[in-house]
Amino acid sequence: MIVAAKAPVLAIDGPGGSGKGTVGQILAQRLGWHFLDSGALYRVVGVVATRERVSLEDRPALARLATSMDIRFVPRTDGGAAAVLLHGGDIGDQLRTEESGKLASIVAAIPEVRSALLQKQHSFRRLPGLVADGRDMGSTVFPDAILKVYLSASPEVRAERRYKQLIDKGFDVNLPRLLDEIRERDARDAGRAVSPLKPAQDACILDTSQLDISGVVERVYGLLLQRRPG
Ligand code: DC
Repeated sequence: MIVAAKAPVLAIDGPGGSGKGTVGQILAQRLGWHFLDSGALYRVVGVVATRERVSLEDRPALARLATSMDIRFVPRTDGGAAAVLLHGGDIGDQLRTEESGKLASIVAAIPEVRSALLQKQHSFRRLPGLVADGRDMGSTVFPDAILKVYLSASPEVRAERRYKQLIDKGFDVNLPRLLDEIRERDARDAGRAVSPLKPAQDACILDTSQLDISGVVERVYGLLLQRRPG
């Protein structure tokens, strides 16, 4: 019997603003692997639930919504953030706001939503490989990842990074409020009962506070080469 090779997974976890999304996309491009932005899945559930007036208390309805979503990511050739298509329509712009991050963090604490999204996340695992970014890629979704990296940085550094990103995109933001939101989101993500934000036992923890994006990319790439020479 021929057993199909399982695609290798590079799991990159960490709190918001740790740089995992940017680092993950650059590495996926360099390796020619697929990329999963798992946070976008939770953001879509939060945004669509609000749009369709589904109560954030109605767990079965939120789980049905998560199961029925047809989500696709279309990578951009210029290296920018991938377009997120929901039932064929681009909703990427609605996902990048702080409000959608907050909604995502709320729905992500619901066990029924997490299990509804588990299979969807597994379906992104295809050859030649997958770079998966999120909070529980190494601990729960892809426990057999060939490399698990957990990127950390202080809330102040992350707030500063987010501030610059949002200002560059033309959003009107307030740094102290952003820092409060980051702390609030960290507490909710780390305090929930299911798949809380924490490094997998066998994760390599990398503090990115003093590193720029290319510094983090090179470190993670180096770790991957140690696991997979050539
Ligand atoms: O990575 P992000 O900022 O797009 O994630 C938004 C929220 O989604 C985050 O606050 C927690 C939740 N999330 C999660 O619980 N598990 C994941 N694998 C990814 C995101």
